[in-house]
Amino acid sequence: MTIHESVLDAVGETPLVRLNRVTAGLAPAVYGKVEFSNPGGSVKDRAALAMVRDAERTGALPPTGGGVIVEATSGNTGVGLAVVAAQHGHRAVFVVPNTIAREKVTLLRAYGAEVVETIGTLPREHPRHVKNLAARIAEQTPGGWYANQYDNPANPRVHELTTGPEIWRQTDGRVTHLVSGIGTGGTISGTGRFLRGHGVVVVGADPEASVYGGGDGSPYYVESVGHYRHPDTRGEDSPQVYDPAVVDRMLRVPDRESLRMTRRLAHEEGLLVGGSSGCAVAAALRLAEELGPRDLVVVILPDSGRNYLSKYFDDGWLTRLGFQDAAAGPRVRDRLPGAARLPVAPGGTPLAEVLRAHREGPVAVVVARESGDPTRSLPEVLGVVRVEALRAVVDGEPGRADEDVAGHAVPATAVGAGEAVDSAAARLGPAEHVLLLVDGRVVAVHPAELLRG
Ligand SMILES: Cc1ncc(COP(=O)(O)O)c(C=O)c1O
Repeated sequence: MTIHESVLDAVGETPLVRLNRVTAGLAPAVYGKVEFSNPGGSVKDRAALAMVRDAERTGALPPTGGGVIVEATSGNTGVGLAVVAAQHGHRAVFVVPNTIAREKVTLLRAYGAEVVETIGTLPREHPRHVKNLAARIAEQTPGGWYANQYDNPANPRVHELTTGPEIWRQTDGRVTHLVSGIGTGGTISGTGRFLRGHGVVVVGADPEASVYGGGDGSPYYVESVGHYRHPDTRGEDSPQVYDPAVVDRMLRVPDRESLRMTRRLAHEEGLLVGGSSGCAVAAALRLAEELGPRDLVVVILPDSGRNYLSKYFDDGWLTRLGFQDAAAGPRVRDRLPGAARLPVAPGGTPLAEVLRAHREGPVAVVVARESGDPTRSLPEVLGVVRVEALRAVVDGEPGRADEDVAGHAVPATAVGAGEAVDSAAARLGPAEHVLLLVDGRVVAVHPAELLRG
């Protein structure tokens, strides 16, 4: 009989599927490891099952059920853990950043899990940072166990024992290159460790702003891979399961390229996958350009696009963030010029200093981050101040010159450079200023009046 004793037996042994159309003109064969075929819908089922089994073996969770699994997760690990929790009779509590797609929160609750939301952009040391909050809840809950996928060795180990050998077997040992994104690093470290032992070259695919590949750590739009780093984070916060020594090479992929590839995979291959898959395939295709017909590239496709219908597959979302153009003009960029350099005042700057540095006009106030980039990622922009208004404050009461500019910032409406002027204007509300976005980054700040009327 080819039946499974439980849903958990269906984890792993995912198909390897050739990419046929997005690879046109490239010499090597490129195969996607389709991890959305796991019962919970992502590569994370593997790590979830392995971590729970390990905890039950060591007694960290009661092997007969009745424990409480707690995890900090952007969704997929939560689903994987919820699947295992249901089958093994544990409760599940998940701490998620408020930046994740709504569908993911709904999904976790659908499995009967409890979800606690916290702000996604907090310094690592903040008590409400996802990881600190999850650890605390686990500690304070009787029977609580913090899965801690970032530091739990069972996470990479399962990939070394399953994902890597599957790929080797499925390709009859012909695989020459592995391409994978890096979230916790469990997938690439474990799969990579196994395949490297067989001479396979391991390539990381990383969002351009992520710190893994050398970015500044500012927020980006491809979920679940890469490493965001809050500017106020002081200490080391790289996951322990990530082993950079396994990665031979890192390819940095701008969000626009990842999102475009995500959509092409649905349209041209019939593979509805998430943004981290788009990022990895974009990197795999760049790599394939350098390779020959005897090479065989395997790229990990971690999850399904169904998790992101309101984001990557929504034209309105992409257009509002400046990733694509509206079907018909006139467009926002026809009305609002870009700027050579965004006028920025980091949060914490005293008013007197802002007045010295900026003579007039609206100024974007951002959280402090050293950056040579003339643009700023939208989630980091706290708001906008008008220099004349600040001057009036300081002239009226000179004692206020030391106040933090962040306390004077007022919210502004963000508009995509390619949005239709009409629809952008309709979203303005009472806003005095607009932030002009290209590829999710603020490139200029303008008076909202320029878009009205
Ligand atoms: C959609 C998606 N892609 C990629 C990853 C990264 O995998 P890993 O944590 O093994 O590095 C994750 C992990 O949560 C994920 O959910």
